[in-house]
Amino acid sequence: MTKQPSHDDNRLPVTVLGLGPMGRALAEAFLTNRHPTTVWNRSAGKAADLVERGALRTDTAAEAVAASRLTIVCVLDDKALHAVLDPIGPGLSGRTLVNLTSGPPESARATAAWAAAHGADYLDGAILTPVATIGQPSAVVLYSGSKALYEAHHSTLASIGGTAVHLGSSVDRSAAYDMALLDIFWTTMSGIVHGFALAAKEGIPAKELMPFARGISTILPGIMDNLAHNIDAGHHPGTGSTIVSATAGMDHVIHTAQAHGIDVSVLNAARAVTRRAIDEGHGTNGFSHLADMLGKPAPAN
Ligand SMILES: NC(=O)c1ccc[n+]([C@@H]2O[C@H](COP(=O)([O-])OP(=O)(O)OC[C@H]3O[C@@H](n4cnc5c(N)ncnc54)[C@H](OP(=O)(O)O)[C@@H]3O)[C@@H](O)[C@H]2O)c1
Repeated sequence: MTKQPSHDDNRLPVTVLGLGPMGRALAEAFLTNRHPTTVWNRSAGKAADLVERGALRTDTAAEAVAASRLTIVCVLDDKALHAVLDPIGPGLSGRTLVNLTSGPPESARATAAWAAAHGADYLDGAILTPVATIGQPSAVVLYSGSKALYEAHHSTLASIGGTAVHLGSSVDRSAAYDMALLDIFWTTMSGIVHGFALAAKEGIPAKELMPFARGISTILPGIMDNLAHNIDAGHHPGTGSTIVSATAGMDHVIHTAQAHGIDVSVLNAARAVTRRAIDEGHGTNGFSHLADMLGKPAPAN
């Protein structure tokens, strides 16, 4: 162990396991709010400035867990989480583990069962916003698991900032929301970089495209609200635009991108989905129809 932390005696101690960009931001937020903060990371050397600010660094994850009743774990993935926590095993007994590592719902369920088997209380969580938001009003974090446990730690977790939402006692809910939202995010990001690649080949610098690209982001909320309404209603009118029309638009983009030698695998995959809807006789429906269709098995060829 290194240096005694400076802290407020009324603030509960917190341990942070994992000092990647997000784990470091979490530790900084707890330090800012004067929680006695203990940190540990697999690779040495990432805690120096946190120790300067008053954090306690331990040599082992087990020592870090022993230092606080509440441990936050935020590492790359589920495999990394178990690489860190499995050796501690019984050392988690009587402690609370809050897992802010992104992962699928099945991992949340399995880790909750694993924690329970070791006598630890467990909350799963998902951070929806980037590192720069942590400790700020713009942070958004979802939690799931025991409501009583969440309420017991709510004031400490509030250091993470912004909006915290408890989604219910089913421990996999935050991961389920996270996966759906990351699905939206990464498919959108794939389209954005593809559009910039096409623009570049047409001699349009990214910054010149931006005013119009930003325009797309301003119309998307209204479009998403409308899609969500139709999906929940199970009603997919093609009054504003049909799947046939959307497919024609995709064809133009694929043609243009191919002419420039740009990889069109992302758009081809999107077009295969609209093509299936047309083949199944739903080409005059609106785009929301695809959300219904994607949940059903594709017909065998
Ligand atoms: N960064 C963001 O803006 C952001 C936003 C929302 C959610 N998240 C989520 O937060 C989590 C952490 O993200 P991050 O940005 O901090 O960086 P990251 O690259 O996802 O994770 C880095 C951390 O994982 C540790 N790690 C990786 N493999 C390990 C292993 N086999 N054993 C032990 N530790 C291992 C690293 O330790 P070493 O330093 O030793 O490599 C480091 O502490 C992820 O699940 C991510 O999806 C991040």
